[in-house]
Amino acid sequence: MKVSIIGAGGLVGSCTAFALQTGRVVRHMALLDVNAKAAEGQALDLLHGSCITADQIIEAGGYEHVADSHVVCITAGLRRKPDESRLDLINRNVDLFLSILGEIATVGLRDDCVVLVVSNPVDVLTYLAAQRLGLPVSQVLGLGTQLDTIRFRSLIAQHTGAAPTQVSALILGEHGDSMVPIWSSASVAGLPLEKWPGWSPRVAQELFARTKGSGAEVIAKKGGAGFAVGLAIAEVIETIALDRRRTLPVSTVQQGCYGIRDVALSVPTTVGSGGALATHEIELWPKELSGLRKSAQVLRQTVDTVLGRLASAR
Ligand code: 2OP
Repeated sequence: MKVSIIGAGGLVGSCTAFALQTGRVVRHMALLDVNAKAAEGQALDLLHGSCITADQIIEAGGYEHVADSHVVCITAGLRRKPDESRLDLINRNVDLFLSILGEIATVGLRDDCVVLVVSNPVDVLTYLAAQRLGLPVSQVLGLGTQLDTIRFRSLIAQHTGAAPTQVSALILGEHGDSMVPIWSSASVAGLPLEKWPGWSPRVAQELFARTKGSGAEVIAKKGGAGFAVGLAIAEVIETIALDRRRTLPVSTVQQGCYGIRDVALSVPTTVGSGGALATHEIELWPKELSGLRKSAQVLRQTVDTVLGRLASAR
């Protein structure tokens, strides 16, 4: 299984490569970046540790690697300023993203390639990629609220003292300000989270607010996310590589799940070698469902704005 990481010279892309290296699942990694020297440096640094991790091919290169990749991960993009929302990034990153899609179109993709969009605003860019890459929409995924979900679980664990791997909690909708906490299914070690000692609506509200603000918090402290987002990406890529059929909150163009269509956002999605194999409209609390539909509305408005700008720029 070969993975190309576009933007691998940067923090998110290089942390993704390191997570894939230590995950020992992916056989072949190609690191691409507009700053070729940075991609070469990351590849060399990873290669130096390869005798300890796994028998993998790790190299830097150009878009020629995309043509025979089973997964193409796009992490390239400008980062938000601490007080900037992801959607504010839209104009700066759309033009860059469309140029990347153009390079991909030039070299072509395997028919069975799965493209994973990470660049922000990820849901809008996932929608554009699904529109323009010529792949089935099921083969174009966005990292969506996968990162928010692992942050949510980890912060809940830190607060409650529970083992992080035993906290089950979910964020759906937009990877952004309208993301939705799914408390109705949250549990610790198979027991309802709301029954956990010391749990309260105030704690719930504080932890969700911390989760939603985590991207900006990390940017303010260290310039941008790397480790957790790399792990979040690696979980999706390895689920594809091993055809694990795990249900993850990745972003795809919706075709009716929860009554949502023609916008990319995160719903429970079974992921395997073919990409998004199925979505699951599992019953939610009314306020969770309305939050999800609000997310769809916000994202649809942004997509319409972007498409309008692109149309007028022609
Ligand atoms: C974050 O939330 C990079 O959007 C990503 O940190």
